[in-house]
Amino acid sequence: MRAVEISAPGGPEVLRPVTAPVPVPGHGQILIRVAWAGVNRPDAAQRAGLYPPPAGASPLPGLECAGHVAAVGPGVARWQPGDAVCALLPGGGYAEYVVTPAAHALPVPEGMALREAACVPETFFTVWGNVFMRGGLKAGERFLVHGGSSGIGTTAIQLARAFGARVFATAGSADKCAACEGLGAERAINYRDEDFVAVMKAEGGADLILDMVGGSYIQRNIRALADDGRMVQIAFLQGPKADLNLVEVMTRRLTLTGSTLRPQSDAAKARIADALETQVWPLLAAGRVAPVMDSEYPLEDAAGAHARLESAGHIGKIVLRVTG
Ligand SMILES: NC(=O)c1ccc[n+]([C@@H]2O[C@H](COP(=O)([O-])OP(=O)(O)OC[C@H]3O[C@@H](n4cnc5c(N)ncnc54)[C@H](OP(=O)(O)O)[C@@H]3O)[C@@H](O)[C@H]2O)c1
Repeated sequence: MRAVEISAPGGPEVLRPVTAPVPVPGHGQILIRVAWAGVNRPDAAQRAGLYPPPAGASPLPGLECAGHVAAVGPGVARWQPGDAVCALLPGGGYAEYVVTPAAHALPVPEGMALREAACVPETFFTVWGNVFMRGGLKAGERFLVHGGSSGIGTTAIQLARAFGARVFATAGSADKCAACEGLGAERAINYRDEDFVAVMKAEGGADLILDMVGGSYIQRNIRALADDGRMVQIAFLQGPKADLNLVEVMTRRLTLTGSTLRPQSDAAKARIADALETQVWPLLAAGRVAPVMDSEYPLEDAAGAHARLESAGHIGKIVLRVTG
């Protein structure tokens, strides 16, 4: 099969088209013929040598796809060859065929094209798991998401809004801020010329913050939280270390937590899949939330897709055309 591998840790140019053996689905797994594969920032971290695949996962990059079931392994009852699915992957999405646990696949939302469906799993699993399950966001709460125009941010804004939260987002340009407000943020904050701490304090503080920046944002997030507020950390684009004063964590009863999706157990990911199918798939089918599409590249130009991802120019999702 056609695939793209990480030939050595490095920049986008280390992504090389190769021919690889078609994987074989094991017990409880399905083989998917990939039509489109989503591109995510963790793929770039893996490419740079900073985010190794968990034990047993394909060394090829790619955490999500949409396509058709090509074969099912022993013990799989739900799917048949030919079914259209989108799926969270342990790796290996930058390829014509990929295997994944059957419980991590979901039907393509009604009325959605495979191109868009390929861009749903990674950010929707991450946002659901961190904002709703871990962060416990409720209707009426003030929610702040950093990196509002990212794949994660555009998903978080829409889902938080759809579930009745008041949404605030930070982003690094006027265009990106406009996109965040277009998706349902009541206030986007251009962090280059505004202080998100001051904006949130004027609103009474954030009940929940989803942060991917870290570094200097950690102390500022603590200040921006409302009493009893929660902060969920999902990445450290500015670095994981900071000189912190944690007194407000105690005096204002704050909760600091976080998670990464990829190393979690198959069962934990299946629980997120179940919740998404019940609570979010109807919103996708109704068009009330949708992936925000930035651009598409052919599989063989995965390097171009990564260069775009790291250019800071994109808004929403980048997708690879594989067999679609
Ligand atoms: N924990 C998990 O399970 C999990 C799962 C998936 C993704 N993630 C993480 O979530 C983040 C978003 O992922 P994504 O795929 O949505 O990424 P993405 O689309 O590439 O977005 C990243 C955005 O972060 C903003 N940003 C803020 N500070 C930055 C900095 N110092 N360096 C680079 N970018 C900065 C940029 O927008 P501005 O121009 O506004 O700065 C950029 O568009 C990534 O860090 C990713 O690793 C975590």
